[in-house]
Formats: sequence, structure tokens, C-alpha cells
Amino acid sequence: MGSINGFMGHDMLPPFTGGWQIDMGPLVVEKSEGSYVYDINGKKYLDTLSGLWCNPLGGSEPRLIEAANKQLNTLPFYHSFWNRTTKPSLDLSKELLDLFTANKMAKVTFTNSGSEANDTQVKLVWYYNNALGRPKKKKFIAQKKAYHGSTYISAGLSGIPALHYQFDLPPPFILHTDCPHYWRYHLPGETEEEFATRLANNLECLILKEGPETVAAFIAEPVMGGGGVIVPPATYFDKIQAVLKKYDILFIVDEVVCGFGRLGTMFGCDKYNIKPDLVSLAKALSSGYVPIGAVLISQEISNVIVSESNKIGVFCHGFTYSGHPVACAVALEALKIYKERNVVELVNKISPKFQEGLKAFADSPIIGEIRGTGLILSTEFVDNKNPNDPFPPQWQVGAYFGAQCAKYGMLVSSSGDYINMAPPFTLTFEELDELMSIYGKALKDTEKKVEELKSQKKEKLVAKA
Ligand SMILES: Cc1ncc(COP(=O)(O)O)c(C=O)c1O
Repeated sequence: MGSINGFMGHDMLPPFTGGWQIDMGPLVVEKSEGSYVYDINGKKYLDTLSGLWCNPLGGSEPRLIEAANKQLNTLPFYHSFWNRTTKPSLDLSKELLDLFTANKMAKVTFTNSGSEANDTQVKLVWYYNNALGRPKKKKFIAQKKAYHGSTYISAGLSGIPALHYQFDLPPPFILHTDCPHYWRYHLPGETEEEFATRLANNLECLILKEGPETVAAFIAEPVMGGGGVIVPPATYFDKIQAVLKKYDILFIVDEVVCGFGRLGTMFGCDKYNIKPDLVSLAKALSSGYVPIGAVLISQEISNVIVSESNKIGVFCHGFTYSGHPVACAVALEALKIYKERNVVELVNKISPKFQEGLKAFADSPIIGEIRGTGLILSTEFVDNKNPNDPFPPQWQVGAYFGAQCAKYGMLVSSSGDYINMAPPFTLTFEELDELMSIYGKALKDTEKKVEELKSQKKEKLVAKA
């Protein structure tokens, strides 16, 4: 199969960049039902990544299908250029502004994806600084290991080497600062808070080195998703926000994975007391049923942009399908369901068993860390419980674990030697039992495989000697 989507095909990847998923072969998915998907041979899988972190309402929510049908029968398309737009697009903007309370936001602009949302952020910030007469304030700081998308700019913002290698990325205006992964990067004896202080100091040093007058914005996910579910250390965002404020640097929060209940709060910003200037949304916005992304813009930025465009003409940016009425109608229905079913409560009810149940496997000799919060979790495989002791990449321990899960009827994502889970909010306690049982069986198989590989390695060494 020649697909490069999802990075299929080993030859597409630079060798061992610690990067991205290596799929073992095509799995053709044909239908979905609740928390499960079925392949073309009728095999059923518990879908522990909600598609691609995007489908919290599961695979067969009739209200979303009806919302799409109704809109298709009323107004299947109209655009949002010039002074024109549609009712679903206006209603969805209002709903989003009401729902997002971490900081009062003033305007919404729609995209078709999370990547486009993050690209849009860069243009908004540049336009804003140009309008303020600060043409040098153009650099962006992102975090190593973060994932912000796949377009030129959003891949550049991402801090994953495989997304940069051979693509001439990142561009010079994008810089990367530390990944806030305490287990992997803390110094001996350093507490979480001390670690957070060190990272905030490093960020400040980077800003001073570059010149604060050149640094426009910092972008981060509340909890890193694709980078391996990195939960920020205590006090991290308080300290980071203090530094950004000191140097008049905007904070863009990428809520593409964390938004709409995933962490047990409606947004990641609520969980970590983040006051963003700009917010990117996508994925769960429509529960993944139709492509849609959004950018929320603060009052202050909006004022500057409106005033500038009154002088020089419209803010010249948009996509044919921005605010697509069908996507907006589905998203509106998704938000209605999130509120009616109280997704935050739903996640908080099941997540303790999800987190504690899986973290109970952390004693396994091949697991370094199991980390997560709410309904998002990652397992990292290392040797000797040591973050600096990875298994040989060619052993593909994470991929092997993923393949065992698939064999037993469960899908996880494996990226290098960590595997991620972000199950749908439709997950029942019975389904969670099934998830943990398959996880346990796949882990036993993987432990056995690692044992075999280790003995083979030993035998080879002995034979050589
Ligand atoms: C945090 C985050 N931001 C942005 C994106 C990009 O979104 P999309 O794939 O819709 O372009 C993703 C996708 O996984 C993501 O996880």
C-alpha cells in the first residue's frame, strides 16, 4: 500500500528520530458503533483513541447525523466571505464564546482543521503586531515534542523531528523551548515545581537572547497529546504566563485535543488557570463527524485588527469552507449534547478508574511511565525503568504492543515506544474492563517478546566474543 497519510511506509521516515507512528499495514475501517469500529472483514475493535483523538461521542450518534441531514436539506453550502455568512456559523460563534470562560474572548473565525487554525493564529499575530507598529515582533516559541499540525507553519510550530526532517522546517521565525516532561527531563532531586521554575527561566533566557522586541507569541497545548500525553508539572503554566506577560508576548493555546471535556474540565485552560489571548479548536468541536476548526480571539486583539482593517481593508484571510453550514450545524449539535450530557461530569466519573486501573500496570519491567489525566493517557516503554534507556528502535516495542492490542480487538496509537489512548466519552465501565483486560494481555505478550529479543541479543554477543 502506498499511502503516506498517517506516515505509512517505513521508508517515509528518517531512521529513529524518536518521532512518529510506524504503521504495520493497512487496516481498512468500514463502520463504527458507539466506542467500537469494525474493519472490512467484520472484526470489531474497541477504539481507544476516539478515531484520532476527535470523536468523544462515539461512532453512531444519531443526533449528529440528523443535524447534518437537516442542514444539507436546508442550505448545504454558503460561504463566509465579505459581509456574508450563515445562521449556523453565527450561532456556533456565539455558543463557543459563551462556552469558553477561562478568558473572555470576543471573536471566532472558522477553519477546516486544527492545522489551519494554528496557521491562522500566526497570520493574526503578525497582522496584529504590524498594526501596532511593531514589525520586528514576529517570532514564535513552541515546545519541543508538541504537535500542532501538518501544514507548513503548524508542522514548523510542532516540536517533533520527524515533522521537520527533509521538509526544511522549522522556518527561522519559529523557535522551540523545553518539553515540560518531568519524568524524562528533571534533574536528580529536582521537584516538579523546581523543574517548572527552571523551564520558565530557560524560556526567559531564550526570549532575552532573541530580544523580547522580536518575540510575538508562545504556543502550547495544555496537555501535550501527540507528543506522548505530557501533563505539565505543577505550577508550570503559572510561571510561563508570568514570563510571557513580562515581555508582552501573546499566549496561543492549542485546545485541539484537550478542548470539550477531555481533561475533566470543559477546556484545558480551565484546568491549568490559563488566560489565553488566542485559542485553537478542532477535533471534538464536531466530535470528528465533519471537518471543522476554530480560532477564538481576545477583545484586545480583535480591536486592533478591526481598527487596522477599517484603515487598510479587510483582514484578507479565509477558506472557501470556513464556517461551512453543515459543519457548523453538526458542531452546534455536538456542543448541545456536551452540555445536556454534562461531559465534564461524565469524564470525571469514569476517568479515575481509567487512570488508576491502567497505572496499576506501571510495575511492568518494560514500562517506564504511565501518565495522563482525565480521559487521556500514554504508556512509555523503556528498559530498566530509565527514561535514558530506550529499547533498540528496530525492536519496535510500542508497535508490537499496538499490534497485540489489535489482535485482541482494540486500537491504540503507537508512536515510537509510547502508546496513547483517549477513549470516547461513551466508554462504559464494562468497556473499560475490556480495555484493561486487553491492555494486560498485550502487555504480557510484549514483555515476553522483549525477553526473547534480549536473549537473542545476548546470544549474538556471546557468539561474537
Ligand atoms: C494539539 C493539536 N493541534 C493541532 C492538530 C492538527 O489538527 P488537524 O489534524 O485537524 O489539522 C492536532 C492533530 O492531531 C493536534 O493534536
